[in-house]
Amino acid sequence: MRRLLYISTARNPITPSDLESILRVSRRNNAAAGITGLLIAGGRRFLQALEGPEDAVRATFDRIRGDTRHFAAVVLADQAIGERSFPGWTMGFQPGALIGGGGEVATAVAELVAPITDPTLRGYFTGFAETQAAA
Ligand SMILES: Cc1cc2nc3c(=O)[nH]c(=O)nc-3n(C[C@H](O)[C@H](O)[C@H](O)COP(=O)(O)O)c2cc1C
Repeated sequence: MRRLLYISTARNPITPSDLESILRVSRRNNAAAGITGLLIAGGRRFLQALEGPEDAVRATFDRIRGDTRHFAAVVLADQAIGERSFPGWTMGFQPGALIGGGGEVATAVAELVAPITDPTLRGYFTGFAETQAAA
């Protein structure tokens, strides 16, 4: 199994309906492909973790990377994993992060990712939320 983590920049300001449609398609495709993960959006940035069978993660990320709704995807981590960090989520999401501003977003994200045992992975998500909250 593989986990890939990336950050990217939205082409246009991200609206709730943009996110809804991304999540609807993602959850359907990811469930079929055995992919789980977490997507956080704040300001014009996305942070997403994808995990699952290596071929499925590669194919999904290739598709995502080609999506014109965002650009400049930078891979932060791409590693073999023994077990999933997001086992229950075909694509989890923290809606408050979209609105941005205020410490409650960072707190909500911290609670969301608290079960993640890998401190580096957890830190990417909490750090992202803190940065957005401060923006
Ligand atoms: C930030 C972002 C994250 C995405 N995450 C996923 C994902 O986890 N899984 C997925 O299948 N598609 C994801 N997509 C959508 C894909 O880029 C693509 O539009 C979709 O997979 C096409 O699915 P379809 O061929 O079933 O219409 C994401 C798109 C964006 C912009």
